[in-house]
Amino acid sequence: MVSPFEVLEVDEDADDEAVERAYRERVKRAHPDQGGSVEEFQLVRRAYRELEARDENGDGDDGEATAAADIDLGDDGEAAEVQPTRVEFLDYEAIVDYGWSLDDDDLFRKASHADLAPDAHGRLLVQPDESLLEAAERSGFAWPFSCRGGACANCAVYLAEGELSQPTDHIMPDDLAERGFRLSCNGYPLTDELSVVFNVKQRPELDDLILPPGPFTRR
Ligand code: FES
Repeated sequence: MVSPFEVLEVDEDADDEAVERAYRERVKRAHPDQGGSVEEFQLVRRAYRELEARDENGDGDDGEATAAADIDLGDDGEAAEVQPTRVEFLDYEAIVDYGWSLDDDDLFRKASHADLAPDAHGRLLVQPDESLLEAAERSGFAWPFSCRGGACANCAVYLAEGELSQPTDHIMPDDLAERGFRLSCNGYPLTDELSVVFNVKQRPELDDLILPPGPFTRR
């Protein structure tokens, strides 16, 4: 058994913000692409889920916060498996065509009623060991990319809901990251569900970060 706090390397009295910060840092390091293993990556996600469950359960009758359960490292049963992240996606070109706004809270509801092509609006699953771009490609979609290494914004997506990790050595400026822009080639879901707009590289604020078309560019 191991404490979820130990796994996330955070104090037991850490507040939600500190836990979230610790998780984002820890899950990036644990990812197989960053030198971790699938088992470690899943353990970190399980630890975060335990702490989320503690928060959802809230305070007990005695006013004390519900204790987070330790994780049984020998439990590899179905209940312990980390489920894939469910992603609803929308092509930025549809937003342009319909005259919608990227930050419209109703964007995905509008998309649901617009009879868009399956590759313009739909859903896909991201497995725990793949980036958002890899999951899109495995699902048969040709989302834009170029370097696949965090050095351009050709693979940029806009996060309408959920959270996607971002490695430290990426090109996305802080102000754009704060507005919800992320890179799909090295972004790994940190939440169970995501709503993303892909193909946002044509947004003017990303112009300076785009690599010109080359042998590795799909669009
Ligand atoms: S393809 Fe260049 S940063 Fe993702």
